[in-house]
Amino acid sequence: MSRAKVAVLISGRGSNMEALVRAARDPACPFEVTLVLANKPDAGGLAIAAEAGIEALAVDQKPFGKDREAHERAIDAALRQRGIEVVALAGYMRILTPFLVEAWEGRMLNIHPSLLPAYPGLDTHGRALAAGEVEAGCTVHLVTAGVDEGPILGQARVPILPGDTEHRLAERVLEQEHRLYAATLAEFVRGL
Ligand code: GAR
Repeated sequence: MSRAKVAVLISGRGSNMEALVRAARDPACPFEVTLVLANKPDAGGLAIAAEAGIEALAVDQKPFGKDREAHERAIDAALRQRGIEVVALAGYMRILTPFLVEAWEGRMLNIHPSLLPAYPGLDTHGRALAAGEVEAGCTVHLVTAGVDEGPILGQARVPILPGDTEHRLAERVLEQEHRLYAATLAEFVRGL
C-alpha cells in the first residue's frame, strides 16, 4: 500500500501533530507524516517531531516581515520539494493568503476547536462558555479562502459540564481533537 505523504503545519506545542504521527505508526494507516513545518523556530512541536525521527523544518516568518505571500511561497516550495500530497494545519496560527489556499485547494485540512460554523477564530472556548452553551466540540474541515469556513469533513461533540473552566473544557475538547483528526485524515486520504 502506498501511503499519502502528509506535512503537518504547526505554530506551537503540536499535540495534534503528535496524534497524527502516533496514528501513522500503525502500518494500516493510509498516511505517513513526512514533514513537520513551523512558522516559528521556537515552536515546541518541532523538537517532538525531530525526536520521532520526522523532518522538522522552521520556515521563520520573521525575515519576510509583512509579506505573508512571500513566506507562503517559501513554505510551498518546501512542501513541493518533498513530494507532499496533503497538508494538515494543526494549530497553525497564521491566517493564510489566497496563494497558499489556492495552491493546496482540496488538499489542505484544518482542525478548529469548536463546532463550526459556531465560534470561528480565536477564544472559542471562552466565547462558548460566556454564551451559556451546553455543548462544545471540534471540527476538521477543508481549508478555503474564508477563515474556518471550508467544507466540514468531521466533527466531535463534547458536553459542557457545570463549573467548566476554559482550561478544563479545552483539555476535554483536545482529547477529542486528537482522535477526530487522525480518523478524519485517514478517511480523507483513502478517498483521494
Ligand atoms: C488546538 O486546540 C487547535 O484546534 C487550535 O489550536 C490548538 C493547537 O494545539 N487551532 C485553532 O484554534 C485554529 N483556529 P496543538 O498545537 O497542541 O495541536
